[in-house]
Amino acid sequence: MKEQLAAILATAQKELRETQTARDLDAVRVKYLGKKGELTAILKGMKDLSPEERPAVGQMVNETRAQLEAALEAQGEHLAQLALDEKLKTEALDVTMPGEPVLLGHKHPLTLVLDEIKDIFIGLGFQIAEGPEVELDYYNFEALNIPKDHPARDTQDTFYVSDNVVLRTQTSGIQIRVMEKTKPPIRMIAPGRVFRSDAVDATHSPLFHQIEGLVVDKGIAMSDLKGILELFAKRLYGDDTVVRFRPHHFPFTEPSAEMDIQCYQCHGAGCRLCKGEGWIEILGCGMVHPKVLEVCGIDPEVYSGYAFGIGLERTVMGRFKIDDIRLFYENDVRFLHQF
Ligand code: DAH
Repeated sequence: MKEQLAAILATAQKELRETQTARDLDAVRVKYLGKKGELTAILKGMKDLSPEERPAVGQMVNETRAQLEAALEAQGEHLAQLALDEKLKTEALDVTMPGEPVLLGHKHPLTLVLDEIKDIFIGLGFQIAEGPEVELDYYNFEALNIPKDHPARDTQDTFYVSDNVVLRTQTSGIQIRVMEKTKPPIRMIAPGRVFRSDAVDATHSPLFHQIEGLVVDKGIAMSDLKGILELFAKRLYGDDTVVRFRPHHFPFTEPSAEMDIQCYQCHGAGCRLCKGEGWIEILGCGMVHPKVLEVCGIDPEVYSGYAFGIGLERTVMGRFKIDDIRLFYENDVRFLHQF
């Protein structure tokens, strides 16, 4: 019996060494340890042995079985390692190969400059405010001292949702919303989309962007407005930027002005970019009209303020020498990737 078991183990081990796959391995397992396996047969035959013989034979069979199982396991691990090596070899990546280029987008030129403008004003202590694009007539016109029959409405024709609800034509309404909710001191800018029923051409679009500004406090004077806006122009366009203030009219400021920057192309001599003027207008501004303060519950005898509205598209066009406003909205990557 002992020799028989040793012979079985030896053949099984030889067969195991020749296995190459998990399937080969399984075949060996079944051949010896399966239901009809050689070792199993011997175990089954034990019932024919005398009770005296059984323990000794049983122990021998069990030992052989344990050795065979250990051999099966070791070969199993060996085969798994071989398979893994093979897999690593065939699936290896050449990390020195050039990769597929990933096309990354970037910020739109309007956003780029808006971010700069926000940074400049945040650095000067301004907060960012927002208002709705679909606005009440009251905030867009009425509270800004532009009653229903006022001629200023003619230049700001817009899309009417109903008699009293419009797509806002200017961000100035946000001034009112902020003053209604906040007690002075106020120091805010409010960027946003505005709408006018203008025909599209190189300098007009029915949708464009403004950045509103408002400062209200005790003792605010026109000199504060001039100082801040000149500083802003220099930060945005460079320290050698020259600005001028031209008297103008806005119903919600008194006095009112427009700020021009000297043309950075011709330095005032007059060229195509500035249409021969030597100057380029970039914003409207003025001292907040006492009526506007009053409407918002702020006492004009105690407080004063200034406001301004910057045209974002115009500012960006000047900045990057872009000659057609439509380029901003067409989303042509050949245009966009230049910034
Ligand atoms: N809202 C004006 C416009 O669209 C621009 C403007 C002018 C805003 C003067 C102001 C301001 O805040 O004070 O033409």
